[in-house]
Amino acid sequence: EELDYHTAIQKAGKQLCRFPLVTVRGVPLMCHIADNFEHIWAFTPDPSDLLIATYPKAGTTWTQEIVDLLLNNGDAEACMRAPTPVRSPFLEIFSPKPIPSGLDLLKKMTPPRMIKTHLPFQLVPLGFWENKCKTIYVARNAKDNLVSYYHFDRMNQTQPEPGPWDSYIHKFMQGDVGWGSWYDHVKSYWAEREKRNILYLFYEDMKENPRREVERIMRYLGLSLSDEVISQIVELTSFKSMKENPMSNYSCVPKLVFDDSISPFMRKGEVGDWRNHFTPEQSKMFDKDYKEKMKDVDIPFRDLI
Ligand code: A3P
Repeated sequence: EELDYHTAIQKAGKQLCRFPLVTVRGVPLMCHIADNFEHIWAFTPDPSDLLIATYPKAGTTWTQEIVDLLLNNGDAEACMRAPTPVRSPFLEIFSPKPIPSGLDLLKKMTPPRMIKTHLPFQLVPLGFWENKCKTIYVARNAKDNLVSYYHFDRMNQTQPEPGPWDSYIHKFMQGDVGWGSWYDHVKSYWAEREKRNILYLFYEDMKENPRREVERIMRYLGLSLSDEVISQIVELTSFKSMKENPMSNYSCVPKLVFDDSISPFMRKGEVGDWRNHFTPEQSKMFDKDYKEKMKDVDIPFRDLI
């Protein structure tokens, strides 16, 4: 029997809480994801499916909206057919019953599907690589990513409590947060980007010149849309438009899960908000650790220091 999402959440009611993290192959994941990991790992995509991979809070929703609009030739109405997580299911999400899992949603769709994941490269089901699925990875500079995750962990009532700001910085640095280490995550896809034909994007580039990045995604998808349609897509995926759009602003998620009176899902959408959070001492300490952790790679992140 089918339940709508709100009813399912209400029914799951008492089982909803700030779920603990359980480590799967060295990566801390929400316990329901960890418990079901064998099902996730066994998922086989269709070669036409598209994967959108990110560390949490790196610009997933933004990229999902851009891709959906590109695939629908900029048709705003078509892209308002359902909220983001229905149009583009979250591969590994499992919640208490009867909330549908990502796999449940995917089963009901016919390929090509737009699949979201926060799994680091090594935990993504092998079928994606065997079937050569197109994959877009979006990375965001560590400090802004941390700030965004901190506010998200405050508002998302199913994520572990972030605790005080200063201790959260250390948790993030240690990878003691959902989906693990930011450092390992961005490196895991970077190392595979050429072999797997992964389009590796940066949030900062998207902010700097959204049109350029929308066109980059368009070419990767093998599409060629008119200048007018591209302009329309850039406009429809601005922070302001997406914040106002009920199908992209996550207002579909009840307060029991996303308490937007604490912090809205569409929070600021800016580069450099870390400057309003880190003290000079915290910043210095973070940078020192960052240099050490990132010394073996040369990923062109901007706006760190
Ligand atoms: P902030 O918390 O810094 O505002 P994700 O979709 O991966 O969960 O990422 C959420 C982050 O992306 C939030 O960052 C959110 O505001 C930002 N974001 C969402 N849509 C955006 C858009 N169209 N333009 C810029 N930033 C956007």
